[in-house]
Amino acid sequence: METSVAADSIRIFDTTLRDGEQCPGATLNGDEKLAIARQLARLGVDVIEAGFAYASPGDFAAVQTIAAAVGTEDGPVVCSLARAIKADIEAAAAAIKPAARGRIHTFISTSDIHLEYQLRKSRAEVLTIAEDMVALARSLCPDVEFSAMDATRTEPEYLYQVLERAIAAGATTVNIPDTVGYSTPEEFGALIRGIRENVPNIDQAIISVHGHNDLGLAVANFLEAVKNGARQLEVAVNGIGERAGNTALEEVVMALHVRRQFFNPYLGRPADSTAPLTRIDTQQLYKTSRLVSNLTGMLVQPNKAIVGANAFAHESGIHQDGILKNRLTYEIMDAQSIGLTSNEIVLGKHSGRHAFRTRLQELGFELDEQELNRAFLRFKELADKKKDITDWDLEAIANEELQAPTEVSFRLERVQVSCGDHEIPTATVTLRLPNGQEVTDAATGTGPVDAIYKAINRVAQVSNRLTEFSVQSVTAGIDAIGEVTIRLEHQGRTYSGHAANTDIVVASAQAYTNALNRLYGVQSRRSSISSEGSEVPVSAG
Ligand code: KIV
Ligand code: ZN
Repeated sequence: METSVAADSIRIFDTTLRDGEQCPGATLNGDEKLAIARQLARLGVDVIEAGFAYASPGDFAAVQTIAAAVGTEDGPVVCSLARAIKADIEAAAAAIKPAARGRIHTFISTSDIHLEYQLRKSRAEVLTIAEDMVALARSLCPDVEFSAMDATRTEPEYLYQVLERAIAAGATTVNIPDTVGYSTPEEFGALIRGIRENVPNIDQAIISVHGHNDLGLAVANFLEAVKNGARQLEVAVNGIGERAGNTALEEVVMALHVRRQFFNPYLGRPADSTAPLTRIDTQQLYKTSRLVSNLTGMLVQPNKAIVGANAFAHESGIHQDGILKNRLTYEIMDAQSIGLTSNEIVLGKHSGRHAFRTRLQELGFELDEQELNRAFLRFKELADKKKDITDWDLEAIANEELQAPTEVSFRLERVQVSCGDHEIPTATVTLRLPNGQEVTDAATGTGPVDAIYKAINRVAQVSNRLTEFSVQSVTAGIDAIGEVTIRLEHQGRTYSGHAANTDIVVASAQAYTNALNRLYGVQSRRSSISSEGSEVPVSAG
């Protein structure tokens, strides 16, 4: 059971698929959620919060699928969020059932401001609800987490009472969320210490923390919480999530990894112990970050700690000089420790399928036979255009294959543009429509990309507004692979699309088609849901 966790290690609870997915435009379909869940399992997270089962039939199905596919005996615990409401808790219990180890995570607000204005309930009423709903959850699942929402703005004495009652009713983990990202490290550490000292039955539960980054303090808050007794950290990959996001998984994990000798004594270990503090395979961090960024369309800023493009780049002459003499002069961690490969030439035009497969396996990509065949074709095409193929090219090819959209309603068959300083940019596109018909049309625009998007719109006839367009180069050199990420808006919702190609005009057309497929998929699911029943709009930050 959950309480058997070693007191001297930190468990990582990943909420990328629940809290992370709530940020605008990060909406993922079921297949994409499953791909991320599989990668989170490879990364070694202890718990995957797979979604909010009661929120919609789609969310329920996603939690259930992840529970069945990833929640194996030696896989992570699979968890569903549930408000402290009977129907939510029952839906969560049903959705996690296929997992070998499932968890119900139920929550209710405890701060006076939430009680007065949002819940319109007294402190006594909330105490009873928390107790009753934890007891219900515990009757359905042996692993129950209780969260006191807005804990950092809750009067501590009242928080202690709620936690004591929740633990007595069967909570095996109690979570302390800094829901509005208001706390400072010293305060947060003191709050965790206060809980340890004042909740009489706290030894029967694990203390967890959950944080939002509104003041940029989320990671610092968590590290103070660890020093004061927190043993579960709730995080999201690339720090995505509500408003300024959740505490970034890669940052807090690498802080504990790189500075473990500083943290060891707080976990009762000898200071010089080299044993890892978490179960995370840090070499999977970069790959996980790229997958989440590509599928959610949430770009990673270049100077982002750990996984940003510049995180291991040294620009200043003095730094470069030092690095050449001894890397430790300016580097506190090795790029390989997060799984960043070098950009050396590994394959070329004449490399065969066997060499291609072997290198992909060495890079940690598990492609099935069909994916491998398609990836090999892409590799051959690329090798015709680009003499030397590096690990970064191979990663881009494998990622494109693994992240290829499974819901393809519109297929881009052909794109052609003509542009130049004396030309009116004109694009001709051929799309295969959801009914199988191939349609070609052309349009002019202010530039080649604008012309392509106008031509696609003429064919697809799906109204939308392009809100973001970004091109990044994955690899170096004039023949580099370029990645395009776009976001578009339709009826107040944001959809993202991503594609990579040596030709950024083609990548732009493909990224736009991918986003339209997402939009179309959500629209068709919604119309089938509204004809079958209601979609309940619930979410929690
Ligand atoms: O931020 C928050 O309080 C939450 C809870 C549901 C844990 O996300
Ligand atoms: Zn949250």
